[in-house]
Amino acid sequence: MKIEFNNIYRQDKTLFNNIIRDIKKIIKNSKFILGDEVSKFENKFAKFTNTKYCIGCANGSDALYLAIKSLHLKKKDEVIIPDMTYVATASAVINNGCKLRIADVNLEDASIKQDEVIKKINKNTKAIIVVNLWGYLANYKKLKKICEEKKIVLIEDAAQSIGSYNDEGVNSGNIGDIACFSFFPGKNLGAYGDGGAVVTNNKIFYEKILKLRTHGAKKKFKHELVGINSRLHSMQAVVLNHKLKRIDLINNKKRSIANYYYKNLNNKNIKLFKISKNSSFHQFVLLVKKRKEFLNYLNKHKIPYGFHYPYTIHETKAFKKYCYDKNFRNSKIIARKGVSIPIDPYLKKKQLDFIIKKINYF
Ligand SMILES: Cc1ncc(COP(=O)(O)O)c(C=O)c1O
Repeated sequence: MKIEFNNIYRQDKTLFNNIIRDIKKIIKNSKFILGDEVSKFENKFAKFTNTKYCIGCANGSDALYLAIKSLHLKKKDEVIIPDMTYVATASAVINNGCKLRIADVNLEDASIKQDEVIKKINKNTKAIIVVNLWGYLANYKKLKKICEEKKIVLIEDAAQSIGSYNDEGVNSGNIGDIACFSFFPGKNLGAYGDGGAVVTNNKIFYEKILKLRTHGAKKKFKHELVGINSRLHSMQAVVLNHKLKRIDLINNKKRSIANYYYKNLNNKNIKLFKISKNSSFHQFVLLVKKRKEFLNYLNKHKIPYGFHYPYTIHETKAFKKYCYDKNFRNSKIIARKGVSIPIDPYLKKKQLDFIIKKINYF
C-alpha cells in the first residue's frame, strides 16, 4: 500500500484550471509585483482571520522578521520564544539585533510554558512570541494579561495554524498584537513557492510593516524607514486566493483524521499530545520511547514520517552562542522522541487503518 506524507498535487487537482487561467492573466497584464491579486488576498485573509489588516510578504520567516522590526528594538531589548519551534522564530529575533530569550514548552501540548516566560520577563523584555506548534493554538491567557500590563508586544507565530481556533472560539491571528503566517507549500494553505503574511488589528503596526516590506516606502521613492523587499508574489496570491476558498474543507479533513488517530491509536509506548480538536493539525506528532526502532519499523512498512522538530533551538549550532537560557527538559524530549505521522487530508480509511494497525502492533 502506497502512503504519502502530504500530496499537494492530489489536494489541488480540481483547482488547477482556474489557477492557470488567472496566472495567464497576470502574465498578459505584466502585473507581477503586488497588484489586484495581492490586495484581494490581503482583504480576504484579514476577513478569514477576523483581523483588520493583512500585509502579504515573501514568506513566514520575513513575516516574523518584519513584525519584530516594526518594534524598533535595541541591542539590549529581549524577545522570548519557545525552545521547540522552527528556526525562523529564533532567526527573526537575532536578525533584528536584539537579545534572544528562550522558555521551555509543556509536554502535554507543546505550547510555551507561560509561567516560565513570566519568570523571565524583566525591564528589557519587549516582545514574546508564542508558537502554534503543529497547528495547536498556544496557551496565552496569562501572557496576554501581563503583556498588556507591562506593554510587551505579544506576537503569534501562526505559520502552522491557518484556520485553527481554540475551545473558546478564538481563531488563529487573534492571540496577540501581531500574527505571522507562512504559505510554504506544505502548509495547510500552501502557495506554489514561498509566501507569508502578517495580520494585526493595530493600525500603527500595520502602517509600519506595510512600509517595511517595500524598503520603507508606502509611495514610490518616499522611503521613510529602512526596510527590506519582501512582497507576496502576485502569482502566489492567485494560488492562495483559490486555495483559501476551500481551506476549511482541508482543515476539517485533517481534523477528522486526527480524531480517528485519537480514537484508535492505543500503543502504550506511544504518547499522544492533548491537542484541541479545533487545531488545523498541520502535523500529527507522537512521542515514541524507542524512536530509532520505531523509525526502522515505519521504514519497513513503508509508512512515511517527519520530525517537527528534531532539534531544540538552544542546542542548534547557529543559535547556541546567542542562547543565554539553557536548562530545558521538555523541548529535548520532543526533539529526541517526536515523530510526525502522515495526516494528508486525502488519506483513505484503509490507509489510516493500516497506519494505526502497524503503530499499535509496534
Ligand atoms: C513555526 C514556524 N515559524 C516560521 C516559519 C517560517 O515560514 P517560511 O518557511 O514561510 O519562511 C515556519 C515554516 O515552516 C514555521 O513552521
